[in-house]
Amino acid sequence: MRHLLEIDDLSPSELDRVLALSTTPDPPRVLAGKGMALLFAKPSARTRNSMEMAVSQLGGHPVYIQADEVGLDTRESVEDVARTLACYHSAIGARVFQHSDVERMAALDVVPVVNMLSDQAHPLQALADLLTIRRELGTLAGRSLAYVGDANNVARSLAIGCGMAGMQFRIASPSGYNFTEIDLDRIRTTGMEPVVADRPEEAVGGVDVVYTDVWTSMGQEDESGSRLQAFEGYRVDAKLMSHAQVGAVFLHCLPAHRGEEVAPEVVDGPRSRVWVQAANRMHAARGLLAWLLSENED
Ligand code: CP
Ligand code: NVA
Repeated sequence: MRHLLEIDDLSPSELDRVLALSTTPDPPRVLAGKGMALLFAKPSARTRNSMEMAVSQLGGHPVYIQADEVGLDTRESVEDVARTLACYHSAIGARVFQHSDVERMAALDVVPVVNMLSDQAHPLQALADLLTIRRELGTLAGRSLAYVGDANNVARSLAIGCGMAGMQFRIASPSGYNFTEIDLDRIRTTGMEPVVADRPEEAVGGVDVVYTDVWTSMGQEDESGSRLQAFEGYRVDAKLMSHAQVGAVFLHCLPAHRGEEVAPEVVDGPRSRVWVQAANRMHAARGLLAWLLSENED
């Protein structure tokens, strides 16, 4: 059974297929008469709404579940929650803290599992990011992207996705907030050598896409004071953007904290594509589900 826990659960050709299905006007109604459980242990605006709409556009019925309601590993085990949901639903989407929670659900092989964000990865976001870059710039292969900020779940999936699509990925993070060697090795399995820059200007120099995400992710709120200090100098502002290619676009997975990781003049400025990117979350989710459900029927 196929699942999507990280973007490289797809092969590069499957990634192409998912991106193609994301823009097809008439995707197969693979969820007609079926349900999909959407389980959230963290807040969400984009992921919940884009997934609910994608399920519905494929003929299915989404059911939103707060993790507290089912009590992951408190009321019953993660495995028993997944087995229960599989009695009624043809797929499970889960947003969790520990990546091992989605791995445990997927290991049962009862229904396909989609990672809707874990502390480790955010593959649905990376799919929408690649879709956005392709629609905005026309091509993916040969393009370059600089990620400025925390080497987090979003950065990890994006880096792997860029490698799979033949793009160059560069990153600038403050000391202590970089990718680990394990992360870098996983990214290298795509055949792309990520560039780890010392300074944001060095990462951004001449790139086609500049990307950032929050300095404090969900679940790290206790660290926000020390993170604010550590990331000083890593804000994406107009001066930093001026180092990128003429015509470079700015992306952010959102939610954005204006004045922290991004200056208002950038996120609300002419190079920003963040609202197209947010809209593409629904198209990419629909493409992914159309592929995943068809794949698991075969
Ligand atoms: N980008 C993203 O995943 O947004 P939400 O947390 O609002 O779902
Ligand atoms: N890195 C952020 C992404 C939010 C969509 C977080 O995990 O909170």
